[in-house]
Amino acid sequence: MKIGTRILHTGNEIDRNTGALSVPVYHASTYRQEKAGEFGPYSYGRSGNPTRDALESIITELEGGIDGFAFSSGMAALSSVFLIFSPGDHLVVTEDVYGGTYRVLTQLFNRLGIEATFVDFTDPAKVKAAVRENTKALFAETPSNPLLRITDLQVLSETAREKGLLTIVDNTFMTPYLQRPIEMGIDIVIHSGTKYLGGHSDLIAGLVVAADKETAARIGFIQNAFGAILGPQDCWLLMRGIKTLKARMDMHQQGAAKVAEWLSRQPEIRQVYFPGLPDHPGKDIHDRQAGGPGGIVSFRMKDGPAARQVLEALCLPALAVSLGGVESIISYPVNMSHAGMHPAHRERTGVTDDLVRLSVGLEDPDDLVADLEAAIKKI
Ligand SMILES: Cc1ncc(COP(=O)(O)O)c(C=O)c1O
Repeated sequence: MKIGTRILHTGNEIDRNTGALSVPVYHASTYRQEKAGEFGPYSYGRSGNPTRDALESIITELEGGIDGFAFSSGMAALSSVFLIFSPGDHLVVTEDVYGGTYRVLTQLFNRLGIEATFVDFTDPAKVKAAVRENTKALFAETPSNPLLRITDLQVLSETAREKGLLTIVDNTFMTPYLQRPIEMGIDIVIHSGTKYLGGHSDLIAGLVVAADKETAARIGFIQNAFGAILGPQDCWLLMRGIKTLKARMDMHQQGAAKVAEWLSRQPEIRQVYFPGLPDHPGKDIHDRQAGGPGGIVSFRMKDGPAARQVLEALCLPALAVSLGGVESIISYPVNMSHAGMHPAHRERTGVTDDLVRLSVGLEDPDDLVADLEAAIKKI
């Protein structure tokens, strides 16, 4: 079956008692044991919950992995994965990574002795050159946040295999509907479920899928031991969001393509970043490994003041942190999603004050274009 069908027909078989088409929410924090020391399928809510199990099996199946894990946020998911490493380990990370990922690596995991080097993942030679004796993993976002740079996942997994490293991909921007990194040899896939998977700007969640048993066991241990699990109510809400993922992503992409194409014709816009544009760097690689461009469009105004004027003059998109909701969200990476990045690092990677990131929602794209046109005219 195709992915669009599997999104709807995976995991709904959970309630065999009633045949309910919506997975029940099990609030129990603990489970009665028949005998001391003998556990049934569930023992304690942190270690396992039937509603969470249903969500975890859905994301595992959609990503094509061996086991999945739900966490209380995307950052909890990322941090729990980083906790599988030990002092003295080193990671090579894509340089225009989400600001929160950069922050947790450079301000928290560095204190635990886990080092990270940030390099341009569009160039496989640079990734190889950054690998050291103590390197344990390569971490990519593709398309990256916010510049939508493309990493070749097949090449990344081959590089990692040659050198005996794990590969980790943050697949938040694509979702398994559009891109399934495990099919390309990646070991661990991470999502901020807060974004497209939830889809309605009403939930904070994170997900991880592992491709093999050994990696899954390491992450499962951290999930239970560290305990940053997703609560059952939020698991249910995330499953509800996933049911409409295909319909929403199709519309997000159509809208984003129209908006990006229009922006690319405006003299006031210096550059547009969108993997659906014919001249987007790495488009051929992206088209090979993903089912569409996604719904995020970033663009550069002539300078910082012009970017801020556009952000504030727009009526339809909410000026807000986050992305992937049904309503359009406009954000200013330099002091929102990437505020946690060192200013020199932002400058080097091109996350500068002239840059605007638009998460295209499900509004009629003609209305979004009209709104952008009016905002740009005001400058
Ligand atoms: C690509 C990406 N990964 C991870 C995160 C972190 O997710 P959360 O905000 O759910 O902790 C974000 C949040 O913006 C993101 O954009």
